[in-house]
Amino acid sequence: MQRPVSMVHVRAPGKINLALCVGAVRPDGYHDLATVFQAVSVFEEVHAHTAREFSVEFTGPIDTSMLTGDDTLVHRAARLVAAELTAQQRSQFGVAGDALPGIRIVVEKHVPIAGGMGGGSADAAATLLACNVIWDAGLEKERLLELAAMLGADVPFSMLGGTALGLDRGDQLTPVLTAGELAWVLVPSTFGLSTPAVYAELDRLRSTGEVPNPIEAVVAPDLFAALRGGKPESLVNALTNDLEAAAFSLSPELQKLASSLAERPEVLRCMVSGSGPTLAILTQAGSDAVRLAEELRSAGLPAVAAHGPVSGAHFVHDTPADQ
Ligand code: C5P
Repeated sequence: MQRPVSMVHVRAPGKINLALCVGAVRPDGYHDLATVFQAVSVFEEVHAHTAREFSVEFTGPIDTSMLTGDDTLVHRAARLVAAELTAQQRSQFGVAGDALPGIRIVVEKHVPIAGGMGGGSADAAATLLACNVIWDAGLEKERLLELAAMLGADVPFSMLGGTALGLDRGDQLTPVLTAGELAWVLVPSTFGLSTPAVYAELDRLRSTGEVPNPIEAVVAPDLFAALRGGKPESLVNALTNDLEAAAFSLSPELQKLASSLAERPEVLRCMVSGSGPTLAILTQAGSDAVRLAEELRSAGLPAVAAHGPVSGAHFVHDTPADQ
């Protein structure tokens, strides 16, 4: 088979949750969610090349040493695309049974690991696109979105990007209208929080009555109005995260850090991103975000300025096979 592309570079964004409203536990163990995602300008860069063997490598400015073994979201995403290949395509690659066709995937990570910003989901989304091209699998966007949902609740959003309402497990997406750009400072932690552990802590806090237990997960209409209006200050009271109480309960140091950051004059709002522990700080303008991130870095915190919304997983570059 003449494969048209020998190298591809796919970029996929991390996300924050502008609202994360958690409802009841479902029979499948997931919680009903009503969430508003925003894709932000911290990107995972995935490079994939044709190769004889299947291999995955993690690199980049953050410590990736814990990403070992062959069951990362990148491996799982690649396996899902491989399972879609026809018998004829598989025989053209010379693979039999469950064996994976050759590809070399290099993931340059910039989104904090276990930080509540969907870095693993971004890797998975980018890997689906990259394998689809390198293996010439011919999968349509709708099928790629179905595979994304199999990989995790946040993966479909990583493909879509922008700003979107996520219902059900967070994977039933509807784009949300926004005006202008929001300026964020993201403050990753030196430790990670496990997403299932944070959800379990929320269940515990609710069962003991320490935090309210809503009957239904609903995003308040104020948030949508504020996003359409495009004035960051009108978002302040509409931003909400039910998992914040659970993340703070598991990490009182994180709560202390969030309270101290909230005191700073440039900070409109400081909140936990997703299941944490990354903190997302809303500022008035990009210049405030850049200045605040610099100040925090000189105080020893690994802060980065970012903006949102940005596009979902997309191709940056590809090299035709005959070059
Ligand atoms: O699907 P994903 O791998 O992102 O979810 C990780 C874990 O987070 C799930 O196993 C579950 O414990 C929790 N979760 C949940 N309800 C959701 C999304 C995630 O309970 N809607």
